[in-house]
Amino acid sequence: MPLSKQFMLSKLIASSQICHTIKTFSKSSGLNMRLINEEGRSIDRNKLPVFCEIVNHTKAGSRMCLEFYTDSLKKLSSSSCQINQGGETPPLRSLTKKGSLITCPAGNQCLIVPIMLKSTLLGGIVSEGMYSGDGLFTDLAAKCEIDLALLTANAFRINRLPKGKLNTILKDMEGISKLISELCTNKFLLEQKNTEIAAINHIGKTLISPVDLKNILHVIVDGAAKTLHTKKCSLRLFNYEKTELIMSVSCGLSKRYLSERHEIKIGKSIIGRVAETKMPIIVEDVRTSSLLENPQQVINEGILSFLSVPLLMKNTMLGVLTVYSETIHKYTADEIQLLTSLAVQSAVAIENKRLVSEIKTHLINITRSLAETIEAKDIHTRGHSERTVWYAVSIAQEMGLSESEIETIEIATLLHDIGKIGVPEEILLKPGGLTQEEFEKVRNHPFTSFNILSSGEFSKEIVTGVSQHHERIDGKGYPHGLSGDEISLEARIIEVADSFEAMVSNRPYRKALDVETAIMELKRCAGRQFDPVVVDAFLKVLEKRKERLGKYI
Ligand SMILES: [Fe+2]
Repeated sequence: MPLSKQFMLSKLIASSQICHTIKTFSKSSGLNMRLINEEGRSIDRNKLPVFCEIVNHTKAGSRMCLEFYTDSLKKLSSSSCQINQGGETPPLRSLTKKGSLITCPAGNQCLIVPIMLKSTLLGGIVSEGMYSGDGLFTDLAAKCEIDLALLTANAFRINRLPKGKLNTILKDMEGISKLISELCTNKFLLEQKNTEIAAINHIGKTLISPVDLKNILHVIVDGAAKTLHTKKCSLRLFNYEKTELIMSVSCGLSKRYLSERHEIKIGKSIIGRVAETKMPIIVEDVRTSSLLENPQQVINEGILSFLSVPLLMKNTMLGVLTVYSETIHKYTADEIQLLTSLAVQSAVAIENKRLVSEIKTHLINITRSLAETIEAKDIHTRGHSERTVWYAVSIAQEMGLSESEIETIEIATLLHDIGKIGVPEEILLKPGGLTQEEFEKVRNHPFTSFNILSSGEFSKEIVTGVSQHHERIDGKGYPHGLSGDEISLEARIIEVADSFEAMVSNRPYRKALDVETAIMELKRCAGRQFDPVVVDAFLKVLEKRKERLGKYI
């Protein structure tokens, strides 16, 4: 049970009437009643008897007291224990998570009642009030280096209680303990529900935001782990071609486990059966389940129970969502319902992203045709956009940009010279140098691009990527003379990809440079014409390609 015990009990004490109740009860019973945590430390402001304060003021005395309370609470909270320290006072009742009268190492008799939250020990209520007077002080004074006379004097000032009332007081203390326990349980359940609601809200918000599918799946897996109060969770997507469930996103699982169980055939093992039957499956104890193909792998990962539910969209199986428990866990109907709801949300997100991806593919295809139409005007630049796209996308991937940013760069690169549609063919195809007037017409193409794209449905990133791709990092580019970060990242990437592609291609007015020379040129112009970070990423792309294929391009 994930629980911040001390935090919960202290918080409850601070925010309730419990403290006041205990104070009143202390007064009426003539005892020094206090609340302690499971480590034996006071968590309310009720005072110790002076005798105890003197002892606690010393290092040895404080350690002795804390050990006594911790030990007593532990024993009282475990079943079938028998405590009778000091040997004189028998327990008042059966000690099955009930309170008891216990003699402390200083010789005082204390009533101690544990406070439980189900099987978890939160702390206890204690009453130090009855001096037994059995003469333990000589040893105690020596051990704690306290004046014996001082100890003895204060020992006799500790309140005593008529023996006949002990059972009644203990019963009352148990009643208070039960009340605190119930308050803590309610608080715990409330906090648990709040965590669930917060996680579900977060998932809901993410599903409608324009983030990548991978990020959405991460949010779902983290949310499922949070709401089902576990650390381990996985989401597998179904690969129709291979009829396998592939591990897509997970949390809390080791690399070894993820590689051992990366793919699971449909119908095989528990997760494969969930996909086949389209029904949730619970494994309460991995050690005794006959359905697992390799239970040892699961046990080695520290998993004892798990719950798997299918991701369904109109009865089509998309994957499987699983939460794991490191202890034996009996999943409730509520928990199955909760994970199933998350699986439904995941399925909707996956389907939405698939539809958006289809639309984007159509858009890219249309854009590609448009780019080909522009290039058809100029035989010298045919295929230029397509090759530039490859360079730009590779740079973006190397720079670790997101899926949607890479898509934007792909579209912007395909369209980067769309404005050349406004440049006469005789200028584009002119073999020699251009006149100033002709040159101005070519330089005008980013303006034309901007006018064409900004009147359509293209995003701001695509429009700026296209219209700024002739700007230079040092501010000497065109059309606006922007510099540094004023130029969008998309444009800085397109500029490097576009320039490199132009350098290694033949033009009517010059021959293509060899790749090594073009690379030297990129390095020379990094920080002046080009963004050095983009150049650096591109050089890495080219080096990796050479290592793999033996040539740069
Ligand atoms: Fe251009």
